[in-house]
Amino acid sequence: MNHPYIVKLHEVYEKVLIQSDWANLKSETKEVIEAVKGEPSPSKLIPKKSVINYIVFEYCSRNTLFDYLCQKPLSLNASVFYFRQLVEAMLFMHRTRVCHRDLKPENLLIDANFDLKLADYGFAAKLDNKALLYSCKGTLNYMSPEILNYEYAERHGYNGELGDVFALGVIFFAMLMGRPPFKQADPKTDPHFKLLYFQQFGQFWRIWETQYAHPQGIVIPEGFKTLLTSLLQYRPALRLSLNEIS
Ligand SMILES: Nc1ncnc2c1ncn2[C@@H]1O[C@H](COP(=O)(O)OP(=O)(O)OP(=O)(O)O)[C@@H](O)[C@H]1O
Ligand SMILES: [Mg+2]
Repeated sequence: MNHPYIVKLHEVYEKVLIQSDWANLKSETKEVIEAVKGEPSPSKLIPKKSVINYIVFEYCSRNTLFDYLCQKPLSLNASVFYFRQLVEAMLFMHRTRVCHRDLKPENLLIDANFDLKLADYGFAAKLDNKALLYSCKGTLNYMSPEILNYEYAERHGYNGELGDVFALGVIFFAMLMGRPPFKQADPKTDPHFKLLYFQQFGQFWRIWETQYAHPQGIVIPEGFKTLLTSLLQYRPALRLSLNEIS
């Protein structure tokens, strides 16, 4: 995908290794090949011929957004800067009818110019006109309630674009506060998400502002709070769409 905020794929190639190459490989490489091939006893089973697939991406030298959030939350300006870049990348992706399905700070790389690059298409899926998907993929903290409801989702489908929007809300919250807003978007098991489910937004923010005060003492502006709770709506139909954000 050719977009300034999506990591570029340079090349995909396959290398066939023969027995004589094998002897020259580093032991770590051999271990990886053997692990991938699932062979039980590497010493007995040196393969005559092995194939390695390489995927070469542009290099993003400044780690991931996750590495920054492990240290401290972003400033308001930096949060807005990266939120905008992520929204642009997502709009482009959804317009090309691709759903990411694993949006999270670990998959947001930062390049040498401090620009964001969306990466990791391991769970990406092609979208049809209705954007309906039937397989539930993602990372628990970032999955929307309708995706977490596996049985229903697999039978009736869920809107993949709005699933990505929910993850965007979790990421934006994590940028501002330095941690995700809840462990799992399940009102039965997660007290923080329960407040969002019952639309008790005042109480939700009070808890965050009192019990988990921002280390830099920043108060989240009201407009940001409204944006966040609109992205984190339990019901996908009430959730803000990317077009409404931009
Ligand atoms: N183009 C890149 N430039 C710099 N670092 C990268 C790049 N691609 C991936 N990484 C680093 O490798 C990590 C894992 O990459 P990626 O998310 O694509 O794979 P993954 O399937 O999630 O792997 P894992 O299961 O180990 O998380 C990223 O979180 C990042 O730290
Ligand atoms: Mg990843």
